[in-house]
Amino acid sequence: MSDRRIFVSRRLPEAVLAPLRSLGTVEVWPEETVPPPREVLLEAAARARAMLTLITDRIDAEMIERAESLAIIANMAVGYNNIDVAAARRRGIWVTNTPDVLTETTADLVMALLLAAMRRLPQAERALRERRWQGWSPFDFVGLDVHGKRLGIFGMGRIGRAVARRARGFDMEILYHNRRRLPEAVERGIPARYVDFAALVQESDVLVILAPYAPELYHRFNREVLYGMKRGAVLIVASRGGIVDEAALVEVLRAGHLAAAGLDVFETEPIPPDHPLLTVENAVLLPHIGSATVETRLKMAERAVDNIVRVLTGRPPRDPVDADGP
Ligand code: DGY
Repeated sequence: MSDRRIFVSRRLPEAVLAPLRSLGTVEVWPEETVPPPREVLLEAAARARAMLTLITDRIDAEMIERAESLAIIANMAVGYNNIDVAAARRRGIWVTNTPDVLTETTADLVMALLLAAMRRLPQAERALRERRWQGWSPFDFVGLDVHGKRLGIFGMGRIGRAVARRARGFDMEILYHNRRRLPEAVERGIPARYVDFAALVQESDVLVILAPYAPELYHRFNREVLYGMKRGAVLIVASRGGIVDEAALVEVLRAGHLAAAGLDVFETEPIPPDHPLLTVENAVLLPHIGSATVETRLKMAERAVDNIVRVLTGRPPRDPVDADGP
């Protein structure tokens, strides 16, 4: 058994990795923040029996083609657009993700980002720290009311529904657009109203993007769509970069057509140091921290390990991204 290689692409707590140690030789990429380079991933894919990957590891068809004994790629994330799932399926390799465990944590962050963007929290805090606060004044740091507004959700999956539940506590009205409409009973339970994409764009006061990335969504929110939003509306981007045309977003924010935006994800991560969004005052920018709590990151790591343990002990994984298996 000990000749079985299990590659883990980032340092994780030893207690989390322990179940893997009895199943083979665990090789952990030693860096804390820097992902393994392509050559390391290529080599790991070629020789390992299992890989625990992160969203920063691009596992493409070429890597998968070289795999000699790879049985599972366990992504420590709910999203898996970093992996060529079709190529893995062709080679009979399981791809798994870590759903559910991060739903509530990510929904908390979405609300935090929405509140921060609408109430201009970072701008106000920056002014205070930079000693620019002159004392209470009627129109200093004024933002937008959150309560009573119409929240549009693009991508009403698990996280979308968790956001909707929170938003109801703020007396927000919920609209949503999805590839597939939810069952009527679920809609009534939230309550949320299904609308087409155009209506979602035109009617939302705050629009939250939570759809997982798919190539057909590339720049779905382009200049025309962004200008099609209500004047003074707010855009929150919390699933994957690439769905919004960031250059167009910069223009629309600078023009004052949108009051604010909050982004936790970007087309290129980390965001390039000369990215124009960094200079836009009414954009709140976070470094992809939707699931970043101690509790949740541990659960995600444990879930990814569990998927590997199951496959290496001859059972199907708990979280195949492909319902039919590889
Ligand atoms: C995911 O899980 O896909 C997030 O983007 C990272 O937590």
